[in-house]
Amino acid sequence: MSNIEINTESIKDSNHTCTSRRHFLLAGASTIILTTVPGIAGAMKLQVKDYPRIKIGSVSTLKQDEAVDFMYPPENPVSTFVLVKLGEAAGGGVGKDKDIVAFSNLCTHMGGPLNGTYKPKHKAMGPCPLHLTTFDLSRHGMVISGHATESLPQARLEIVGDNIYVTGIMGLIYGHTSNIS
Ligand code: FES
Repeated sequence: MSNIEINTESIKDSNHTCTSRRHFLLAGASTIILTTVPGIAGAMKLQVKDYPRIKIGSVSTLKQDEAVDFMYPPENPVSTFVLVKLGEAAGGGVGKDKDIVAFSNLCTHMGGPLNGTYKPKHKAMGPCPLHLTTFDLSRHGMVISGHATESLPQARLEIVGDNIYVTGIMGLIYGHTSNIS
C-alpha cells in the first residue's frame, strides 16, 4: 500500500505564489513519503484470475534461492514463471516461513525475458536485459528501478502437505489485455 503526502504549504503562501522550480524540487524531495510494507500490501485487494491447479514443486526439495522455471498458464510456452524460496517472509508468500513465491518471467515494460536474473542477495529479479528494470520479489514484484511501472504478475500458490500448487495469477501478463489461458 502506498501513502503519499505532499506539502502544499509553499503553494498556499500568498507572498510566494510562484515557488521556484528548485525550491519546489527541494521541498518535494523532503516531504513526499512513500511507504510500502509487505503486511499492508498483503491486505490490499489484489485481482486474481483463476487457472487450473497444477503441482509445480515440493517443499522438501525446493532449495533456498534456487529459482525454478515453470510454464503457466499450463500448455502456454510463451508464459513462464519462476518459483523461488526467498528465505524471508514475502507478500503473497506461502509455506511455514511465508517465503515461497512465484512470478512471471516476462518484464511488464516491454516483455523482456527475466529468466535466470534472480538475485538472491536482494530477493529481486533483473535487471531486465532490455531496459534494466528490477523487481522486488519480497514485495509482490514491485518495481525497484527501471522503465517498467507495473509490478510483476505474481502466481497464487497453495501448499498441501509437501506439494506446492499454483492456482491463479495476480496481475496482467505482458502483451495481453486479459490473461491468456
Ligand atoms: S522490457 Fe524490461 S525494462 Fe524494458
